[in-house]
Amino acid sequence: MNKQHYVAKILSNATYARQQQASAFAPANIALCKYWGKLNHELNTPITSSLSIGLNNYGTSTEIYLDQHQEDTIYFNEQAIDKNSTFFERIQDFLALIRHDNLYFTIKSRSNIPLAAGLASSASGFASLTLALNQLFGWNLNQQALSLLARLGSGSACRSLWQGFVEWHHHSDPFLSFAEPINTTWPTLAIGLLIVSHQEKAISSRAAMNITAATSPFYPVWPTVVNRDLSLIKTGIHQQDIATLGAASEANAIALHALMHTATPCINYDLPATRAAKQRVWELRESKIPVYFTQDAGPNLKLIFLKKNTADIKQAFKNIIVIDPFELSTER
Ligand code: PMV
Repeated sequence: MNKQHYVAKILSNATYARQQQASAFAPANIALCKYWGKLNHELNTPITSSLSIGLNNYGTSTEIYLDQHQEDTIYFNEQAIDKNSTFFERIQDFLALIRHDNLYFTIKSRSNIPLAAGLASSASGFASLTLALNQLFGWNLNQQALSLLARLGSGSACRSLWQGFVEWHHHSDPFLSFAEPINTTWPTLAIGLLIVSHQEKAISSRAAMNITAATSPFYPVWPTVVNRDLSLIKTGIHQQDIATLGAASEANAIALHALMHTATPCINYDLPATRAAKQRVWELRESKIPVYFTQDAGPNLKLIFLKKNTADIKQAFKNIIVIDPFELSTER
């Protein structure tokens, strides 16, 4: 099945009541158990399931307007996006899947995520665009169908439709590979964004993922690692046990980066400051402060800890941004 047929099937359940404009917000998400490797490259289905946590009011707001001109115009953080850029192309490819009646759009996206945080703003970007399109056309699709659509923009976008813990299911049937929320809150949990470098990353997560899956001799064990970590992370969530959740999330990130280190060419996102920050996390644990890290395709870390330890964490990491994932705020 190609993308067009896939989208047509999802939209066959949609209603249609077009408006002139719409807007939506979607939170960024951090994977505690990572998505790394595609089963179906065209439909963006994953080899394994993954599990993330939403970042409350940190994310992307997207406004969309029907445009009279015969072309799309896209603004990101008030700047017009170059029509020859990969960023523009990715959004155009996504819009091409739902375009009909020669309709064109003006899209204004704003992200309040610190750009250097290595937090894929593409996840919240495509999720908010999908939600905005649902409103613009009055599709009235349910969250599951919207997750199936958002996945085409960026895999992790399918997890950005909800706050809190979200699991994205792997499945050989592309219509069953959607994300859904895990119905639990953990009000004492905190997430820290630790920016150790503002340097641009050398290789995109998309390219790094494909190179790793194709060349690391250890990639075949990745699904086993994910099964182990996913199950421990779920236990940690259900028992609200920071040690179980944190240790499994950290182990999963370490395994992810070990895979990348063994790819050809070697992919390394660690900077000396990244190594130093990991060391500091381990030292804090030695001194009985339960703090754990996770790391995506970049040098910055995200810390997982309990709110009661915030003062200690802030003392150890001066510039950390602390997020409360469960006390939801509408301030953006
Ligand atoms: O969804 P993508 O193509 O941006 O890839 C996301 C990759 C990681 O952030 C490293 C892992 C994840 O599950 O979010």
